Amino acid sequence: MSAHLTPLLENQAIQKRIAELGEQITRDYAGRSVHLIGILKGACIFLSDLSRSILLSVSFDFMAVSSYGRGTKSTGEVRITKDLDTSIEGLDVIVVEDIVDTGLTLNYLRHLLESRGPRSLKICTLLDKPAARKVRVQPKYVGFKIPGEFVVGYGLDYEERYRQLPFVGVLRRSVYA
Ligand code: IMP
Ligand code: MG
Repeated sequence: MSAHLTPLLENQAIQKRIAELGEQITRDYAGRSVHLIGILKGACIFLSDLSRSILLSVSFDFMAVSSYGRGTKSTGEVRITKDLDTSIEGLDVIVVEDIVDTGLTLNYLRHLLESRGPRSLKICTLLDKPAARKVRVQPKYVGFKIPGEFVVGYGLDYEERYRQLPFVGVLRRSVYA
């Protein structure tokens, strides 16, 4: 493992928690279909595992936004770089995110997606950093609440690296400070 990383969440703990989230979603949406919207690129690994633990009829689509640029601080600007392929009107939508930090990205996305007439819209995030919140965003499903440090792995990147790590680790400040 890289000397720049301090492990925070082991793969086993992540898998266990995702199985629980899948069970919860399966119960909450019993008898319905869910449409997962993964926010690229960070959520792709989480969505792959989560979708396989939901025992319902599942469809998915992806959206790509850029809010951070390449660094570790949110600029507050959200830009859609890839929109959905299909309409979400009348669907039970769950937005799948890797992490909610300031909340700016999801706040923007939630308003945009709600204007497109889904039957319901909830947020599911693997990680939540409540300490960094700038706008009120409340994910219905949260994998783990974590401290306000910059983390990578399991889909999360620093300058497009570390996404493939099977665990989540805190990136040493000296790497990006
Ligand atoms: P927010 O708009 O500040 O809530 O940030 C949302 C996006 O910023 C996430 O989807 C991530 O791509 C990125 N981000 C926020 N915190 C971290 C982190 O600790 N590590 C890696 N990416 C992060
Ligand atoms: Mg990122």
